[in-house]
Amino acid sequence: MSKHKIILDTDPGIDDAMAIFFAFQHPDIDVLGLTTVYGNVPVAMAAQNALRLCDLAEQDIPVTQGVAMPWVGPESTYAHFVHGENGFGDIPVEAPKRELDPRPAAQFIVDMARQYPGEITLVAVGPLGNLATALHLEPNLPKLIKQVYIMGGAAFVKGNVTPLAEANIWNDAHAAAKVFAADWELTMFGLDVTYDIPFEPDFVNILAEANPTLGSFVRDSSQFYMDFYSQGKDQRVCYFHDVFPLAYLVKPSLFTFTQGHAKVGLGELDRGQTSLAPRGSTPSPIWLDAPLINVATGFDHMSLVELLIDTYAL
Ligand code: BDR
Ligand code: CA
Repeated sequence: MSKHKIILDTDPGIDDAMAIFFAFQHPDIDVLGLTTVYGNVPVAMAAQNALRLCDLAEQDIPVTQGVAMPWVGPESTYAHFVHGENGFGDIPVEAPKRELDPRPAAQFIVDMARQYPGEITLVAVGPLGNLATALHLEPNLPKLIKQVYIMGGAAFVKGNVTPLAEANIWNDAHAAAKVFAADWELTMFGLDVTYDIPFEPDFVNILAEANPTLGSFVRDSSQFYMDFYSQGKDQRVCYFHDVFPLAYLVKPSLFTFTQGHAKVGLGELDRGQTSLAPRGSTPSPIWLDAPLINVATGFDHMSLVELLIDTYAL
């Protein structure tokens, strides 16, 4: 079987780092490049952090810097309270050794899609401004891309930024609405699944044993992240949201889905809400006009944990 060619669009970020290393480690994934976006941190820091992760993993692939602002509205406030001032839980990090690819992230996505028509899976684990900009640059992009997997949204569960909205979608709701409306196969891994499995300190300790370089980085950087997620809880836990679409790419049998017509809220109260009308659930043309997407709604917990540890151990 040939490898899955992906472009990983990311805002590193601690769970982003965990996901990027998983992609680098897995033998069935060929990462053509990392494209970066503001979100957890400002975009310039996201780009430098992506370079740092490539250095650590000894991956000489293109890293590009993308959009710095939401499609509409003011600059983001970022999530340093979740990911630390440096995006990696404030553990010491070295300056990157390599330079960025000079192309804007969206141009890189378009160039790669033209070079490998029909072969690339876009995996987006941050706000969706780069994908929306790429659609703007190349309206034919949906025909050139194999499929789009995102970490973002909350279909049947509550949000994590507002009662209705998940962070990646809320951070750039107008861009997300364009990505959801485009004519490509979209699969969403939102809080419906990612909040269903708390990871405890034992898990990151095992990752560090399995892979002393990359696993130790995840263990050390995630201590700050666990402090955030453990507030008010008896157990220390955190959530590795961004690895879910990559786990699905290499092991589709892990997940179950609900297909439905999806809409992204753009109003004051429902900004970033991802509402889903399951297929066949309503005759209303308002819903039937909305594109069909696949939303992950269940997964095999044990097998996911095994896959993550086994992949770090390779
Ligand atoms: C998402 O928001 C970011 O903080 C994480 O990296 C993840 O992509 C979870 O809501
Ligand atoms: Ca992210």
